[in-house]
Amino acid sequence: ARTVARDAAGALTVGGVPVADLARTFGTPLFVVDELDFRSRATAFRNAFADAFADLCGGADVYYASKAFIATGVARWIAEDGLHLDTASGGELELGLRGGVLPGRIALHGNNKSRREIVTALEAGVGRIVVDSLEEIDVVADLARERGVVAPVMLRVTVGVEAHTHQYIATAHEDQKFGLSLAGGAAEAAVAKALSRPELQVLGFHSHIGSQIFDLGGFEVSARRLLELHRRVEREHGVELPEIDLGGGYGVAYTSEDKPLAPVEIAGRLAEIVARECLVQGIAVPRVSVEPGRAIAAPSTFTLYEVGTTKVVDLDGGTSRRYVSVDGGMSDNIRTALYDADYSATIASRASAAPGVLSRVVGKHCESGDVVVRDEFLPADTSAGDLLAVPGTGAYCRSMASNYNQVPRPAVVAVRDGSSKLLVRRETPEDLLALDAG
Ligand code: LLP
Repeated sequence: ARTVARDAAGALTVGGVPVADLARTFGTPLFVVDELDFRSRATAFRNAFADAFADLCGGADVYYASKAFIATGVARWIAEDGLHLDTASGGELELGLRGGVLPGRIALHGNNKSRREIVTALEAGVGRIVVDSLEEIDVVADLARERGVVAPVMLRVTVGVEAHTHQYIATAHEDQKFGLSLAGGAAEAAVAKALSRPELQVLGFHSHIGSQIFDLGGFEVSARRLLELHRRVEREHGVELPEIDLGGGYGVAYTSEDKPLAPVEIAGRLAEIVARECLVQGIAVPRVSVEPGRAIAAPSTFTLYEVGTTKVVDLDGGTSRRYVSVDGGMSDNIRTALYDADYSATIASRASAAPGVLSRVVGKHCESGDVVVRDEFLPADTSAGDLLAVPGTGAYCRSMASNYNQVPRPAVVAVRDGSSKLLVRRETPEDLLALDAG
């Protein structure tokens, strides 16, 4: 339900609002969220999972992974649209609660949660704390006992599957910081330990295998390994584990070469996988949950920049490259520099009939790696004052923004039906100076 379009003069509009109006009102760089697009995708995931799993286990729950992008306004959409929320820190948890997400629908993650974060989660009454280490089992249980509550927990398992984009690797062992190793026996030790603590209610196992995944084969292996463990534990300990969580990671299209799967395809395939594995294991299908972040947030948003200087640099072999500088850069989108991510760009403020010239969109920071879009054909007449839109920046851009070079972080605005609403205000130089101890 994207509402981004070009008006008669060739300028970009969102929800009927011309980008020039947004730039005038809120300044640039600016993250512009197409509210209906975000919410229709969130709802599509919720419905697809509810439907695909309805007959198997009464429906599956979709936890929006708030690390992709969260603000109180976004949490409000999540609450209104009936999703759950995955948080990875006390700060994300706080925003979820402020937005009115029911505590019972919130999960708290993290491999090194502070006591304070755990206490906040317990006092709010979150639906699950996803325990990530053997030590943490006792910490959560002790803090729950002090408060006279029972903490619902899931155990995050390292299943030995690593999935990225178009492939996955299944190994016996994974060398990474998250979770309780299945192959190494930590997962089973954790279950025994957690079941021995009456202050904990063990809901089941969780695994997250990676991000920007197009090949769902990795989920087949992770679901199989989780459900085998699930069955073994139920038999050996004589308990019933009501849930299993398969994590997030569904890929989005950053360029025309990426072919993302629709929510119904993902939900349908995962339901098939879970149904088959439970049949093979001879167990009842537990309640399933998933945690997509990027797939909901990324496509809903573009970053609006103003073009400043441009220069043409001669390359070997007689070719040249044009550098188009914008008023932000790696401080509002670190993904190009950090992950070699691909983005595209388009002139947003007007149409141009000028021929396309191979261009590199760069920021204003003191680093040559400060690239936003590595290669894009932009019109030859691109010049200072033009507005440039970089689409697909709704996930892990504002949430990973920095103040490098003492640059204030951009505002985030949601647009819908001809009106705009601030989600996060722009940082000011005064905000940054206020942090300086003098
Ligand atoms: N659940 C867990 C436990 C996670 O660790 C993550 C992401 C998600 C869900 C959501 O994954 P998604 O559906 O968004 O792929 N900064 C990186 C991505 C890091 C993802 C970390 N965990 C990036 O910009 O690509």
